[in-house]
Amino acid sequence: MILVMASTGMFGRPVVEGLAKRGLPVRATGRSEKGLATLDAPGAELIPADMDDPSSLLKLMNGVDKVLVNAPMDDQKEVREKNVIEAMIRSGNGAKIVLLTGGVLHDDALGAAGLATEKLMRSSGLPWTVVGPQTVMETNFKPFRELIQSESMLMSCVGAAKVGFVALDNVTDAFIAVLESNNDAHVGCEYVITGPEAVTFDDVATAATEALDRRIIYQDMPRDEFRKLMVTEAGFSESDVDIEVMCHLDAFRAGKAARTTDDFTRLTGKKSKSVREWWIDNANYFLST
Ligand SMILES: NC(=O)c1ccc[n+]([C@@H]2O[C@H](COP(=O)([O-])OP(=O)(O)OC[C@H]3O[C@@H](n4cnc5c(N)ncnc54)[C@H](OP(=O)(O)O)[C@@H]3O)[C@@H](O)[C@H]2O)c1
Repeated sequence: MILVMASTGMFGRPVVEGLAKRGLPVRATGRSEKGLATLDAPGAELIPADMDDPSSLLKLMNGVDKVLVNAPMDDQKEVREKNVIEAMIRSGNGAKIVLLTGGVLHDDALGAAGLATEKLMRSSGLPWTVVGPQTVMETNFKPFRELIQSESMLMSCVGAAKVGFVALDNVTDAFIAVLESNNDAHVGCEYVITGPEAVTFDDVATAATEALDRRIIYQDMPRDEFRKLMVTEAGFSESDVDIEVMCHLDAFRAGKAARTTDDFTRLTGKKSKSVREWWIDNANYFLST
């Protein structure tokens, strides 16, 4: 039985649905029954539990042999991941940890949270695999839909930094490859899932221009002005904007997301999707109102 934490979220949902469609035994969890009922995952077990309430987690572990450890990207990430790993240890069933981590090396609060979880994972005595999506195209480009429609523009504060963006469906396939494997081939391995190339935001604007058949430009902004806009216009609170947005862009600007690896191909035998291919696949999302 494969247990997927944060099953209704960006990464969890397609992994649960993909495992279920392959006929693999999967248990999905999140806080609400209503949220879990939205999964298109025939045969999956749906069990609500709260990562903030350690006593609710033990029941998830019955008969489980792999757990995708995943928690939302906020200031509770470290505590929630710790609660899940500790419930795995308490259950005594020796299940494998498949840890969803950041593929970008952060020198900040998010980086510290990731390191703390990895330290606990390594000292747990449980077999583990780490899979780090570098930075996902969906979270980087989809928020620009309105700006593209009204101003034909993408905006950020990363200058000409190169980023090896990865498509969400490639990340999903990488997780499924690790989770469906029935041997120890991935134990002790760390994978960083990236796209095939590192590109600048000007390159992203060129890909968008081609896919949408309309000139899209990249507007680079001073960091602090961009941060202010995220609070006043994009709806991020002062307490969330640094961990949810700025620490990622700071890492991009410092060149920490420029890596490309062949880990996706090694895991799946397929080629990863380029930024250009992603924009073609997602053109309708940006063109429709
Ligand atoms: N975006 C990227 O490019 C990227 C790249 C690499 C790594 N990451 C990492 O990916 C992880 C997931 O990212 P995300 O922000 O997109 O999260 P997310 O998957 O959207 O998180 C939401 C999910 O968490 C569940 N959840 C929230 N609080 C919970 C709780 N207390 N107990 C149980 N379930 C709870 C939600 O279900 P309910 O609301 O129903 O409870 C929902 O399923 C983060 O740790 C992030 O650092 C992201």
